[in-house]
Amino acid sequence: MDAGHFADALPPGVRLERGEGGLERLAIDCPAASARMFLHGAHLAHWQPAGQRPVLWMSRRSMFGAGQPIRGGAPICFPWFGPHPADPKLPLHGIIRLRTWRLDTVNEGSDGSVRAELCLRSDERTRSLWAHDFEARFAVEVGAGLTMSLTVHNTGGAAFDFEEALHTYLAVGDVRQVRIGGLAGVTFIDKTDHFRRKTQGPEPIAIAAETDRLYLDTDAAVVLDDPSLGRRIHVAKSGSRCTAVWNPWIAKAKAMPDFGDDEWSGMICIETANAADNRVTLAPGAAHTMQATIALI
Ligand code: BG6
Repeated sequence: MDAGHFADALPPGVRLERGEGGLERLAIDCPAASARMFLHGAHLAHWQPAGQRPVLWMSRRSMFGAGQPIRGGAPICFPWFGPHPADPKLPLHGIIRLRTWRLDTVNEGSDGSVRAELCLRSDERTRSLWAHDFEARFAVEVGAGLTMSLTVHNTGGAAFDFEEALHTYLAVGDVRQVRIGGLAGVTFIDKTDHFRRKTQGPEPIAIAAETDRLYLDTDAAVVLDDPSLGRRIHVAKSGSRCTAVWNPWIAKAKAMPDFGDDEWSGMICIETANAADNRVTLAPGAAHTMQATIALI
């Protein structure tokens, strides 16, 4: 077990266990929240503040296996977002959500929150898909709020550029009822309409069809108002210049084998990202951190 040396040193309420598909995961049950994070993809699959319903959405049809993406939670996309720009045979959303990460540290904060950090370094397999040397570190802080932080370090001898996303699936009561605020006036790429560039109007975003948008040049926090569940989810960020909003709607949900036909109405992705015009360039030795902080307000 890659993280076996942690077995005796984990804070109270934290354990390593086998989850779905036999995949190893960190289970966190602290007073403020519970969470589950797979080492496969450093994939946070569950976060539930005490007394609340789960905030992250998971598909009941998700696959759980080495080399397969998990559907729901917070997949990490890197070094490209969506299809590879030149080779459609390469995995969607890059390579690191398909690899097993190393658990490096787990600490308890003075407020009872739990912070875990995982690491993935380039190797022959990553270089066969993307010819650069890097170290990625993913830190997650689980408490009444959730902070996810992805740091990419260029460990090679030449500059590279990349795209990235914390492809966060949020659970909602009925996506047709939600409103998304914070992106008024922002230019977005509409992937459902030939990648046309459009400008968001002043009104909050409502979802009434397949929605696949990349909002550009925005540092803004987003507020998801969910009247069906009677809650608002606040997504703040730093080191990120893009926000993606995705709901597959009916036909695309049906077409995805790992997505229940009727599950589209219970989720929306609000993704903290750097992609398209906002891709990141890293000089040798340099590092870049992108962070998302999610809270119920
Ligand atoms: C979104 C993309 O971020 O992720 C969509 O904009 C894509 O185009 C969706 O369909 C899900 O991707 P995947 O690879 O997890 O099915």
